[in-house]
Amino acid sequence: MSNVPAVEPMPPGVVSLEDHAAHAHARLDDNAWSYFSGGAADEITMRANRTAWDAITLSTRVLRNLVGGHTRVNFLGTTLAHPILLAPVAFQRMAHPDGEIATAFAAAMQGAGMVLSTQATTPLEDVARIVLNEPGRGPLWFQLYLQHDRGFTRELVRRAEEAGYEALVVTVDAPSSGARDRERRAGFQLPPGIAAVNLAGLPPAQAIELHPYQSRMFDALLTTAPTWADIEWLQGITRLPVLLKGIMHEDDARLAVDAGAGGIIVSNHGGRTLDTMPATAVVLPRIRDAVGAGVPVLVDGGIRRGTDVLKAIALGADAVLVGRPYLFGLANAGAMGVSHVIRLLRDELEIAMALCGCATLADANSDVLFK
Ligand code: GLV
Repeated sequence: MSNVPAVEPMPPGVVSLEDHAAHAHARLDDNAWSYFSGGAADEITMRANRTAWDAITLSTRVLRNLVGGHTRVNFLGTTLAHPILLAPVAFQRMAHPDGEIATAFAAAMQGAGMVLSTQATTPLEDVARIVLNEPGRGPLWFQLYLQHDRGFTRELVRRAEEAGYEALVVTVDAPSSGARDRERRAGFQLPPGIAAVNLAGLPPAQAIELHPYQSRMFDALLTTAPTWADIEWLQGITRLPVLLKGIMHEDDARLAVDAGAGGIIVSNHGGRTLDTMPATAVVLPRIRDAVGAGVPVLVDGGIRRGTDVLKAIALGADAVLVGRPYLFGLANAGAMGVSHVIRLLRDELEIAMALCGCATLADANSDVLFK
């Protein structure tokens, strides 16, 4: 196949996800670094995501027989080899020329679920072909930003279904971007040749002439922002399960279940939308309590260690997503780098399970959290 990414060597000395971040910082230019690494405003939420996982302590258990243990989890009618999925990240060719193609190869080879961004720089059909051809692959989902043109959105959904995507992940927490100071300081702009190719042909939003007393937010941008009615509309036009990403309030979690959502992703968009929101590790147990046991709940935000994955499962998540870490792996060594990130996290998860006396993730309940 002509588009198989070249095998690149892993940079020496990179043995953790934070090593990947440091190495990527040195490789990416300021423009790309500001986009991928930055959060909103003072980045308080972005940092809180990390420190919240760090603040949770694990309880070890010894001398248990763990033979036959594994990292498998079941939800949405499938068995995943492990609970690590790749979160949707936009514009991946800005990190590496192989972009989403490299990510798709790595995800499929490592049995990790992949969520392709609406703002991908690779046609969604090309990504699907790579993932769906790999027998040990994880699930393949499409992240959907509902577009101002609902006809275009419908067509995008049809393309995703036809290409073989298995769920839609609707990002609901970003009707507006956050105040991204880091990007603004760097004067962030998309480099030439980098574009959200799956949105090609999207008719421009209708220009609204604003009077000086009107708001660009309320009188323009939000006039086409999605609402719960659009989630209902979406469910009416697709046969795919619809997961809602960006739920941070128990009442919204209940509304999501009432609206028929197939799952919930507890996320603050990696701290890229509203600064000073709480960390996802803090909110996750409340969401699990609110929706009960049967609803798939995933979490992202600040997960950098296998111990974080175990903590997330113990707090009620079925699975986790990582975003920036694999993007940095991609920047460092293309498909090899993404693979390495997934493998590191999975190996660390197995170490954490073994040392906490958990043969399976079903055993990783609140007892593994030191109280
Ligand atoms: C897009 O979702 C972004 O966070 O930049």
